[in-house]
Amino acid sequence: MKQLLTLNDVPDMAEMIQLASELKSDSHAFSQLGSRKTIGLLFFNPSLRTRLSTQKAARLLGLDVMVMNFSNEAWAIEYEDGTIMSGLRSEHIKEAAQVVSQYCDIVAIRAFATLTDKEKDESEQVLNSFIKYASVPIVNMESATAHPLQALADALTLKEQVHKPKPKIVLSWAPHPKALPHAVANSFIKMMNHQDADFVITHPEGYDLNPDIIGDNRVVYDQDEALKDADVVYVKNWCAYDDYGKILRTDNRWMLTEKKMKLTNDAFFMHCLPIRRNVVVSDAVLDHSKSLVIEQANNRTYAAQAVLKTLLDHA
Ligand code: CP
Repeated sequence: MKQLLTLNDVPDMAEMIQLASELKSDSHAFSQLGSRKTIGLLFFNPSLRTRLSTQKAARLLGLDVMVMNFSNEAWAIEYEDGTIMSGLRSEHIKEAAQVVSQYCDIVAIRAFATLTDKEKDESEQVLNSFIKYASVPIVNMESATAHPLQALADALTLKEQVHKPKPKIVLSWAPHPKALPHAVANSFIKMMNHQDADFVITHPEGYDLNPDIIGDNRVVYDQDEALKDADVVYVKNWCAYDDYGKILRTDNRWMLTEKKMKLTNDAFFMHCLPIRRNVVVSDAVLDHSKSLVIEQANNRTYAAQAVLKTLLDHA
């Protein structure tokens, strides 16, 4: 593995999750592997879990860590070639990526979707521009269309918690006051394509995700029907994909409540966090003993550690 942009870069998902599990059992086992090497974490957007868990993972492997908020601490970057840079953008990605590559052995980047220009978001301009000009491996810490580190942590959580053969796992849309990207849902679906499960995606009409991501997965527009006998309910908001970036409904009928959880087979509740209480999910569901959200966040460290170890092994 030379980089992690999407889960397509993971050669063997089961092996990666097994490695994450082993690292969780003995997280200091490879504390010298990254010795004398440096990882740079570049954030174009806010973060709690990704920022701290990736730092922790890197330090557990002996890597030196540099963190920079690119959105407000770095020079504004120009990505287009041949531009006359007489505006607000002071530095071209061509120089920035090469310079960062001199200081770092691995560069991890968070750069969310703009949700205003679908074509530009799908081109993953920030990540792909770094890849074009950087000379070191690039790791996606959530881009416009993918959040592979989250999906790997979710896969580890499922492996640890769900022991039933072919469990029913539901990805349910939920309301949110802001338009949110598709990255978490996209990567969760890609990850689920590697699981032996009865997987169902449910959302209101109009919220269909990218058909290339959905593939042959079952989509149900009736949330109650989808939740019936579910063993795991993974909740996430996303904005409309066809009517790109739009919020199509503001009512709370799709909020996950105790009443809806009663339709399930005493299901686990999952969410990547951060989560808006009593908007996305009721307090009772989030605070229930079947809620896995804190363990999902814990597993972010070991998923990131597995990815960084694999990159260091192949350096
Ligand atoms: N789930 C997740 O990526 O959390 P942060 O946005 O806080 O990093």
